[in-house]
Amino acid sequence: MRVLVLNGPNLGRLGTREPDVYGSTTHEELAASLRAHGGRLGLEVEVRQTDAEHEMLGWLHEAADEGLPVVLNPAGWSHTSVALRDACAMLTAPLVEVHLSNIHAREEFRHRSLVSPMATGVVAGLGPGGYLAALSWLGGSTGTTGA
Ligand code: DQA
Repeated sequence: MRVLVLNGPNLGRLGTREPDVYGSTTHEELAASLRAHGGRLGLEVEVRQTDAEHEMLGWLHEAADEGLPVVLNPAGWSHTSVALRDACAMLTAPLVEVHLSNIHAREEFRHRSLVSPMATGVVAGLGPGGYLAALSWLGGSTGTTGA
């Protein structure tokens, strides 16, 4: 099964971006570990990152058209984008929202995600482990763990 892992704005700068909040793993290292983890689960994981909202919307439309599960870190758009939420509403396969940091323990404006009501589940505060948990759940939920 194919899974799209979609990362929103500024996540391409992981590794150097506020490492005290987001850790020292780079986006490329994260992507490699997610592809490897997916491989162990029998998932074909495709990791993409963009700072352009229209590009993210296009990827979500693609997931809707192809019935693909999505692991999404909407980053700053979580708190602001009705368009992103509307695109998530079109998905038919599971959507797992992931945040590296615990958005509920941070500034007030981060507490609400417009995407969360559209998500099957939400993981926040576990760093890169949140993505791994999301993939493990997707692998298990479709019986493709290979276990
Ligand atoms: C984030 C949390 C958001 O509030 C922030 O704007 C991000 C990253 C996270 O992964 O913790 O860019 O989604």
